[in-house]
Amino acid sequence: MENQTAGLHLVSAFLAMEPTDCVMSHARSLGGGSVTVDVQRFIWDHCISKAIGKCHAPYLKNFLKKLILEIESNRDDVLDELYELYSEFMISLKDDNTVKGNVRALKYISFLFPDDANCEDAMVRKMVVPLHCSLNMLEGDTGCSIWPASLFLSEFILSFPDMFSSKTCFEVGSGVGLVGICLSHVKASKVILSDGDLSTLSNMKLNLKMNQMSTEDDEPVTSEFLDSVKCLHLPWECASESILQGLKLDIILGADVIYDPLCLPHLVRMLSILLDKTKSSSRLPGVGCGGAIGSSHDYSDGCGSHDVVAACSSAGNAGPTEHPMAYISSVIRNANTFDHFLALVNEANLAITDLTGTLQPASLLPYMQSYNRSSMRLFKLSSK
Ligand SMILES: C[S@@+](CC[C@H](N)C(=O)[O-])C[C@H]1O[C@@H](n2cnc3c(N)ncnc32)[C@H](O)[C@@H]1O
Repeated sequence: MENQTAGLHLVSAFLAMEPTDCVMSHARSLGGGSVTVDVQRFIWDHCISKAIGKCHAPYLKNFLKKLILEIESNRDDVLDELYELYSEFMISLKDDNTVKGNVRALKYISFLFPDDANCEDAMVRKMVVPLHCSLNMLEGDTGCSIWPASLFLSEFILSFPDMFSSKTCFEVGSGVGLVGICLSHVKASKVILSDGDLSTLSNMKLNLKMNQMSTEDDEPVTSEFLDSVKCLHLPWECASESILQGLKLDIILGADVIYDPLCLPHLVRMLSILLDKTKSSSRLPGVGCGGAIGSSHDYSDGCGSHDVVAACSSAGNAGPTEHPMAYISSVIRNANTFDHFLALVNEANLAITDLTGTLQPASLLPYMQSYNRSSMRLFKLSSK
């Protein structure tokens, strides 16, 4: 098995639960065009035998089915182990549907950093992020799926770590928490994640724990937990001005948050408060968090303000050094919705720059054929 890269891509695609056709195409590449007995042995040793009992069983069953069918149709020999496991699944898993309802599964997203970009088979450094997520992007499980824009924003953060290290970073609509994990990896001084959906928030906390990060409501931090990330329940509609101003941020991030026309005015209002140079940068003693905590807002509306107050008070020491910036990654699915966003941004007197062509992140997920990087856009926003 000479081709290290093909093997790595195959294992990474399997662990990320890429569509089985994509995993099969990596298997063929590894075998020089077909799934040879050597490739089957590789798949058994490095993918299947390690996944039994841990991986989403219907996915594994479906993958085995595709694998066996392809090998048989090429009139090659199938490893006994593959047949045996598949027949076990035939008995134990009657239902063939991989995705039904709000099914959650554990995916492993491997970011691959080649040591030498010019050499295809150069040694690769890996960063593997386990994420508990939904397999169904619809049916009200939006925030528990991994959206491509967060993969792109994660690649951006990991490609330009100096832009984020030692910065106080705040993400809106954080979903599964991947961007926060990457921010922590590049040593952001403070990471505050937020979402308006409570089930998304609890799934996000689960993911942070799985990645050895503590959240504010954990037990006292043990050595096992390396980094602390704040998770806020923050519906954009409820975010009060004084609390947002008190967060003292350097960088605001958002991935795939421009899609619901009804929510956009609230999102842009939040961004304009967070990016306001006059208010957010002149943080004199006594202004900012202290003011927010002591203010007379009614917090009894279930908008998670206690979370906000706690994050605000503990973020208080690391003031920003420059004017805050926002980075928003997006897929433009609906041109009208995006134009509406641009109009609101303009009305709010914010400057927006398309960085897509100028600041391209490295391709750290080369095995992920389901992730279409060419449709990704990245915008920088700031106060004019
Ligand atoms: C399409 S998902 C993107 C999730 C994640 N950023 C990603 O790219 O994988 C949109 C996220 O924004 C959150 N969201 C949508 N509307 C919101 C609102 N009005 N207030 C707060 N969060 C909201 C959703 O709960 C969801 O987690």
